[in-house]
Amino acid sequence: PEAIAVQELANRMSEKGADLVKALFNMGSMVTVNQTIDQDTAELLVEEFGHNVKRVSEADIEVGLIGTDDDEAADLKPRPPVVAIMGHVDHGKTSLLDALRGTDVIAGEAGGITQHIGAYQVTPKGGGTITFLDTPGHEAFTDMRMRGANVTDIVILVVAADDGLMPQTIEAIKHTKAAGVPMIVAINKMDKAGADPTTIRTRLLEHEVIVEAMSGDVQDVEISALKKEGLDKLIEAINLQAELLELKANPDRDAEATVIEAKLDKGRGPVATVLVNRGTLKRGDIFVVGSESGKVRALVDEHGKQVKTAGPSKPVEVLGLSGAPMAGDMLAVVEDEGRAREVAEYRAAAIKKKRLVTAPTNVDALFAAHA
Ligand code: GTP
Ligand code: MG
Repeated sequence: PEAIAVQELANRMSEKGADLVKALFNMGSMVTVNQTIDQDTAELLVEEFGHNVKRVSEADIEVGLIGTDDDEAADLKPRPPVVAIMGHVDHGKTSLLDALRGTDVIAGEAGGITQHIGAYQVTPKGGGTITFLDTPGHEAFTDMRMRGANVTDIVILVVAADDGLMPQTIEAIKHTKAAGVPMIVAINKMDKAGADPTTIRTRLLEHEVIVEAMSGDVQDVEISALKKEGLDKLIEAINLQAELLELKANPDRDAEATVIEAKLDKGRGPVATVLVNRGTLKRGDIFVVGSESGKVRALVDEHGKQVKTAGPSKPVEVLGLSGAPMAGDMLAVVEDEGRAREVAEYRAAAIKKKRLVTAPTNVDALFAAHA
């Protein structure tokens, strides 16, 4: 059962703590401002003072309004796949992200400069838009997953053909398998002398990754991110995998999105890059995100261009937040500002409570470290 300190309730009601204590005394309860009262008593008190009682359900705090209602199958429309690139240090993750960015025909037309917002979309020649997470490395992937955010549909495992399977390659395989996300192996640096893709395919067997060349069902593509070779094949492989996954979302509803990155920008204030899970995010939408709330003042894409809306799998920067949320936080559009503030406050309180509970553990750990 929920409990609240008398003083905190007083603050929320904009009343004096002492007046609440007096009212409680008249109701037969002897409490001080620092003591807590249960939700039913709080409700009585709120009514006593002539305020409206509004309860925020546990579900709102716990799952944060996200994914609690299912969409009708008929409302689902295909959405672009969200792809993460993982692999060992120096195997070419950043080079590949850059090379793939170069395949976008729309960016060329718009002549827009690309900027780093944590994710970007490309539409290669021949169609099929793909969203790439621009945060390589399995840290970002696992951090988000630990916070309950599973945004990645497909993982590209980059392995340098001249270096083979390395510790972080194996880590990436483990994380991908744990997440149940399908993988495509990109054997990179094929232009280099000493490139040995066969050994890589064989060694992958030891980690239960059986590529197509070994009669398995994991697609493998030989590429050179540097020479921009094999990119068409890789994109084809992504599109094929995406087709198998039948990725769909309802674009015609209030948006739900996941925070990929967030920062406090000197000029623009708190900015979060979000990836829309379902629905369409619009300018003017009121939302809750983590323990923050806000109203969409502007949506900015990876070309630095303002857009009016963002549908499923679209990454956009959101301006108009009360504060910077955390990567992995969920954003949900709500009906009005009062509701947004209310849910955000409850979430903030829930987070604070959790911290208080876990604090002693941290102190123990601190002492253990010095023992
Ligand atoms: P970290 O972010 O440090 O983990 O590295 P990364 O995986 O992002 O690798 P990055 O793209 O920075 O590439 C590392 C080095 O390999 C750079 O010097 C690249 O130029 C080089 N490189 C990447 N791809 C290729 C390739 O296809 N062929 C050759 N010859 N060199 C490549
Ligand atoms: Mg890199």
